[in-house]
Amino acid sequence: MHKFPLPRIHPMDPPQQYREAEVQCPIHKVEQWNGKQAWFFTRYDDIRSLLTNPRTSADASHPNYPAQNAALAIVRKDYQVFAQMDPPEHTSERRLVAGDFSVQRIELMRPKIQALVDRRIEAILSKPKKADLIADFAGPVPCGVICTLLGVPETDHSLIQSWAREISSLNTSSETAAVMIKDFCDNYLTNLVRKKNAAPEDDLLSRLIVQQMRTGHISELKVVSLARLFLTAGHESSSDTLGLGLAALLYNQDQLALLRDNPALIKGAVEEILRYTDVTHSGRLRTAREDIEIGGVTVRKDDAIIMHQPTANRDPALFPNPNQFDICRPPRPHLTFGTGIHSCIGQPLARMELQIAIGSLIQRIPTLRPTQALEALHFHHRLAIYGLESLPVTW
Ligand code: HEM
Repeated sequence: MHKFPLPRIHPMDPPQQYREAEVQCPIHKVEQWNGKQAWFFTRYDDIRSLLTNPRTSADASHPNYPAQNAALAIVRKDYQVFAQMDPPEHTSERRLVAGDFSVQRIELMRPKIQALVDRRIEAILSKPKKADLIADFAGPVPCGVICTLLGVPETDHSLIQSWAREISSLNTSSETAAVMIKDFCDNYLTNLVRKKNAAPEDDLLSRLIVQQMRTGHISELKVVSLARLFLTAGHESSSDTLGLGLAALLYNQDQLALLRDNPALIKGAVEEILRYTDVTHSGRLRTAREDIEIGGVTVRKDDAIIMHQPTANRDPALFPNPNQFDICRPPRPHLTFGTGIHSCIGQPLARMELQIAIGSLIQRIPTLRPTQALEALHFHHRLAIYGLESLPVTW
């Protein structure tokens, strides 16, 4: 039995050992950080089938729910949100915010996102031909986008960004991160919700407060918990996908040139970036509500389940030459946003911001190139989201 998680061999590929273990025994168990066992799935078809199976549970308060570290388990318990709930609670809570994430609603944000991206590119261009694409671009852009959606005042965007950066930094222990998240929820976010309650505006948090909190449908703690969910789920995942996606392009200059010369390829390029980078590397986590027969094994009621969808996104049965980064790959549905009832609510927003950010950066700075070898870059790998610490470039 191997442990989970295992370290990567190549920074842009999921740990090779997961595939090797799958070849020997397609469905097996792994040992988690706390010594407990979990069923481990890496095949595309198995994961698709489990993610849409109502016999699985996403309830993070289950004693066997897998967690990649103790700190995250505490945070999830204190600020419960629909991401870790089952129907019917999941259905009704997700419905409260689904309208704000619809394709039509998100489309209205396009001009604001474009303006935000343009400002960042101008700032990069004002520098003496040297920038860090994480600190100068991939960090601030998604932070600005999610803050705009929620209604976080612009003066606080950099505070939110440095908070998020510190939490996911290599130098922050997971215990410190948990304390920081709690402090942020109990102080900054609670104050923000109170300010919005006093003077609501046209944003997601104000709508939740006016329509749901004031009418007694949800508590202040729930609004704070949802704000935390969106700020973390919608920020780090997009930020790290943007950073790694830019790295994938910069370290595959043929693909970068292809996209630069054919801007219409941006949609396919972003789908390939999502498949190839798949930053939620702790996998999809569940327990079994009842016995589940799958692929010749029986997952017993209450057993822990880890589905490693980054490995499934490299399944050669679906994606020929899976470790090759190819922006012209024929479209096939990847699992980067999950699937089923918990599939990512923010995917229209993530897609749009990635398309605008990457498309605009490449057109405005066509000679962009990295200044360090890929092997010299630092990646953060301990928390739920995988990503780059910095990406130095010149042009
Ligand atoms: C590239 C960026 C993103 C990636 C890779 C990503 C990935 C995912 C994945 C894999 C899930 C499924 C979780 C599961 O099945 O257990 C998910 C759910 C979720 N995502 Fe995203 N996400 C991204 C961007 C966003 C954005 C921009 C938001 C906006 C707030 C967001 C909010 C959420 C929420 C609230 C859920 C929970 C949905 C539910 O349980 O019903 N995500 N995301």
